[in-house]
Amino acid sequence: MIEKINQYKGIVLAGGEGTRLHPLTKVISKQLLPVYDMPMIFYPLKTLIKAGIKEILLITTEKQQNNYMNLLGKGEDFGIAIDYIVQNKPDGIAQAFDISREWLSTSPCVLILGDNLFLGGNVSELLVASMNKNRGSTIFGYKVKDSSRYGVVTLDKNNQVIGIEEKPKIPKSNWAVTGLYVYDNNVIDYVKDLKPSKRGELEITDLNNIYIKKNELDINFIDENSYWLDAGTKDSLLEASIIVENLKKKNIDLF
Ligand code: TTP
Repeated sequence: MIEKINQYKGIVLAGGEGTRLHPLTKVISKQLLPVYDMPMIFYPLKTLIKAGIKEILLITTEKQQNNYMNLLGKGEDFGIAIDYIVQNKPDGIAQAFDISREWLSTSPCVLILGDNLFLGGNVSELLVASMNKNRGSTIFGYKVKDSSRYGVVTLDKNNQVIGIEEKPKIPKSNWAVTGLYVYDNNVIDYVKDLKPSKRGELEITDLNNIYIKKNELDINFIDENSYWLDAGTKDSLLEASIIVENLKKKNIDLF
């Protein structure tokens, strides 16, 4: 079933421990750290808002929830409604759907990771188009040099996804899976079939592979004018600030 665009709800996942950024993240949540002139969480939020999403659930750790509430309130400054929920332990990205089952109710949704920045291109437009034609799940690929650090798609000759491998030693393509995903409402059922991986997490890659097996997953390729950054390392956090500064100085829209 094709979903109607105004039925979509958004989820921003901003739990996690941010261990790769210690000691920066010992007291402050990663997604509250500055990226140039805004807290990191503003970036994924604005990507969803630009795509017209008006109801957003913010998933955080218990310890940090108050900080996010103080920063974002009920979302009135952004013209949206923000709800909050706690993830007790970082048991995996796909756990977002276990936690948000009741909040989502019968809605389709967009999930974005709180440390993923999509800058300077047409990602919000691509997202709107994907929400309009989503027939299960839609993921977004970004061309990278060293894809073995990411979830990597295997494509057939028609550029359809036939598999996703998590951090493969020998990647089958240069297309990394970014932290932005569109799902129909079946996601809250499919997640029940997941078992924790070797590292003890409910893996988003396993969830996406369920959609692939059902032949219900599409990919959109982010164009080369856009930047995608996972700001979870010291280098990428700095790079994100530099990119934002450059785009602002050139008067290029961030979102
Ligand atoms: P990661 O960068 O994989 O994990 P992390 O943020 O804990 O960082 P580190 O690896 O340095 O310890 O997470 C990607 C995003 O997803 C980030 O915004 C945090 C979020 N996340 C959760 O909210 N809950 C989870 O269980 C996981 C695994 C990630």
